[in-house]
Amino acid sequence: MSLPKVIAGNWKMNGSNILIEKFSKKFRTVDLSTKVEVIVFPPFTHLKYAYEQLKDTNIKIGAQDCHHESTGAFTGNVSSKMLAECGASFVIIGHSERRELSRSENKYIPGKISSAVERNLTPIVCIGESLIEHQNNQTNEILEKQLKFSLKQSIKSEALVVAYEPKWAIGTGKMPSLNQINQTHRCIREILSKIFDKESAKKIRIIYGGSVNPSNASEILNQEEVSGVLVGGASISTDDFLKIVTRSY
Ligand code: PGA
Repeated sequence: MSLPKVIAGNWKMNGSNILIEKFSKKFRTVDLSTKVEVIVFPPFTHLKYAYEQLKDTNIKIGAQDCHHESTGAFTGNVSSKMLAECGASFVIIGHSERRELSRSENKYIPGKISSAVERNLTPIVCIGESLIEHQNNQTNEILEKQLKFSLKQSIKSEALVVAYEPKWAIGTGKMPSLNQINQTHRCIREILSKIFDKESAKKIRIIYGGSVNPSNASEILNQEEVSGVLVGGASISTDDFLKIVTRSY
């Protein structure tokens, strides 16, 4: 049986209690298909409220990052243990906006993934190339480097989602062609087969992110190798997000 598609909404530094209530009202009336797993990622401060408001809607809650340690003197950080206590069941790791903010982000990614898995949070590990790398045909090479560095064989593959997000497609309205998206996802699966093994790699959902909206969601989700989408801008509109969810089945 194929795994449910992932429709993930990364709110970034957006949202409010009012938005959470709007989501709760809208999705309460929707009978979500079992073929889809819907997750929203509000800022840390709103996780608990989102969990409480959305727990009857089948929408799961995720966080936008986590620290690699579970406690300690790390001012301003939040651990996976704390996220789990707020009701989160997913966490985004290595989003390019975070990698850009801090040069040391990359080196902590394996630790963040391990700490998430330890707390039963499903990590959505983001990878992607820059525009220059894309133009120089280095995409596959860059993705292989990022995946080999981030993932350890000791992680159970079914506890993992990989998000392919070309940096140049995030928030720009630009996107690779559908064929390129499909080919790149296939290449990611091949790399994952080398890191784990073929059977384990099949259990990893590979999702696409970067300028996904209600108009392009169906064609992206219809690509054979695409197991879902990570949505930024369009995820803070209840109407647009619901349209994207319903395009997945
Ligand atoms: P976007 O963002 O949908 O606004 O391009 C995607 C993301 O950053 O995950």
